[in-house]
Formats: sequence, structure tokens, C-alpha cells
Amino acid sequence: MTIGTELYLELLKKTILFEIWLEHEGGNATFQNRLEGLDWPNIAHSMIGRLRMNQLHQAMNIVINEQIPGDFIETGVWRGGACIFMRGFLKAHAIRNRRVFVADSFEGLPAPDPKYPIDATSTFHTQDFLRVTLPEVQQNFNKYGLLDRQVTFLKGWFKDTLPTAPITQLAIARLDGDMYSSTMDSLTHLYPKLSIGGFLIIDDYSIGYCSAAVHDYRAMHGITDPILPIDNYSVYWRKTK
Ligand SMILES: C[S@@+](CC[C@H](N)C(=O)[O-])C[C@H]1O[C@@H](n2cnc3c(N)ncnc32)[C@H](O)[C@@H]1O
Repeated sequence: MTIGTELYLELLKKTILFEIWLEHEGGNATFQNRLEGLDWPNIAHSMIGRLRMNQLHQAMNIVINEQIPGDFIETGVWRGGACIFMRGFLKAHAIRNRRVFVADSFEGLPAPDPKYPIDATSTFHTQDFLRVTLPEVQQNFNKYGLLDRQVTFLKGWFKDTLPTAPITQLAIARLDGDMYSSTMDSLTHLYPKLSIGGFLIIDDYSIGYCSAAVHDYRAMHGITDPILPIDNYSVYWRKTK
């Protein structure tokens, strides 16, 4: 790894998170909020914040160093920033045999499904701020020069797109769909494809709907790999069996 690679990736994170111009963001954009991904940005291309973006970076470094096979996916991408960083990472390391899957409805969150009663009180689907169209996300990739054939967009509800997605093996699955249904659908269809040693990242663990799905899925499948904190809101584990 060269110093140029590291400098590019650091600048990419600063740009995606709009850290360099934070004083122009408006809203609740303070340094501390952007560090922890606590504000909903007006301009930045990701809302996950610096600590979670750094953890994604670290996970990708480990996957490469340990040669954990598989592609990268995020389910729930909003403006696309975390996936843009994944693609930038692969490009910076001249890695051509891994793809980035970008899964989203591109029209916001689903209304609660009676199949998952725990989501009944969720109002995320009413939030226009969380609706970002596919052309907007593609344009964001393009702005960084990172829209190419190594990126595959999966447009639609996770329950419809993930079962038939052209994914064979994953090294990193980053789940950011907030709700029980979105988290459970992602785990159900993606976890069996996660390599041993791969990273399962849960952005919304602090949201009760999401953590309930995580605990139910782990109990159903006897998963005991330790859940490790990223910041006060997000967690990950590495698959050992
Ligand atoms: C909190 S945002 C994701 C933030 C993003 N990871 C970032 O880097 O800023 C949640 C996203 O999940 C999507 N989403 C949630 N549940 C979904 C589902 N069941 N199917 C498709 N998209 C879903 C929404 O459209 C929205 O773009």
C-alpha cells in the first residue's frame, strides 16, 4: 500500500462525509455529530459518520490482507456514500475481482408489514428525506469517477431483490435499513453467502426494531460470534462458522 493510496482514501472519506466544509452544512452538523453519524446531512453523501466509515475501511483492509473471498454489499444506501467509499477502496487498491452491490428501493423505507408486528410503530416510511432516487445515487458515484461495471445496483424492496440477486459470495455485508423487516430480510438472504471471516455490519443496532431482528436471526441460527461495538449506535461481528 502506498502513501498515495492512503491519502486518496482519507480525502475520499472527508469528501463523502463533507467534513472539510462542515461549517456550510447547516442543520445539526457539528464535528461531534458528524463523528458519530448523528445528524441527517443536507449535503454529505453519507449519514453514517466518521467512526462507522473508518470501521468500514478497517474491515475492507482486513478482508484484503486476510484474503477473505467475496464481494461487498450495503443494504440501505440513501445517497450512496458508504458504497462509493467501497468502490473507491477497490479502485485505489487496483482490485478488479470484487464487486460492490448497492441495494435500495431508491424510494425510501417500506410501510410496516403486518408480517413483522414489531415494525407497526415505525414511521420511517413517511420520511421524504430518506428517499433518494437511483439516478441521483448513480450521479453521486459518477461525481467521484466511480460509476462503472464493478458496481451493481439492486433496485427494489430487499425481500424482492435479494433472493435473486446475482451474488455468490460476500466478504462484507453492511446492513442499514433501520427496520425489523429490512434487517431480517437482509440477514435471511445474505448471511448464508457471507464467507467465514467476513464482516456483518449492523448500522442501526441502537434502533429497537433492528436489534430485535438481529437477536431473532442469531437465535434462530445459533450464531454466537461476539457482537462488537463500532460506536454507541452500530455493531459488527465476524462470521466464524
Ligand atoms: C438510513 S438510510 C441509509 C444510509 C446510508 N447507508 C448512508 O451511507 O448514508 C436507509 C436506507 O434504507 C433504504 N431501505 C430501508 N429498508 C428498505 C427495504 N426493505 N428495501 C429497500 N430499501 C430499503 C431506504 O430507502 C434508505 O435509503
